[in-house]
Amino acid sequence: FIPPSSGGTGGGLTAKDKLGNDLVASSFLGAHGAGDRVLAQGLKGDPTYVIVTEDAEIASYGLNAVCTHLGCVVPWNANENKFICPCHGSQYNAAGKVVRGPAPLSLALVNTTVSEEGKVVFSPWTDTDFRTGESPWWS
Ligand code: FES
Repeated sequence: FIPPSSGGTGGGLTAKDKLGNDLVASSFLGAHGAGDRVLAQGLKGDPTYVIVTEDAEIASYGLNAVCTHLGCVVPWNANENKFICPCHGSQYNAAGKVVRGPAPLSLALVNTTVSEEGKVVFSPWTDTDFRTGESPWWS
């Protein structure tokens, strides 16, 4: 018997903003529009992007912002529609798929859901990487 976790988050972790407050989906969507990619604190404290879909909803996947080259946090560049690492120039497309090295791998995916309380919740992504059709390299 496995007791349900409090808040029904299925073992996930509530995303936090930079002040450490829980990310509430409604206010997040009030502040961020379609196509935005916004950093939050994620699993293991990793900086993780919450993505707003074109339908102005929270995407079912988030992206771990840690560059797969040497670990810099990769900023989103809305003008270029890419993530561009400031350290050695690696680039990732809007879904975090690596499109230019030296980074060897795409940004790690994270499951993203909204809890019954309306909070943004991250949990580990163990499914196939939809960008490559391969098993996730990070799990
Ligand atoms: Fe990102 Fe080197 S750490 S390109």
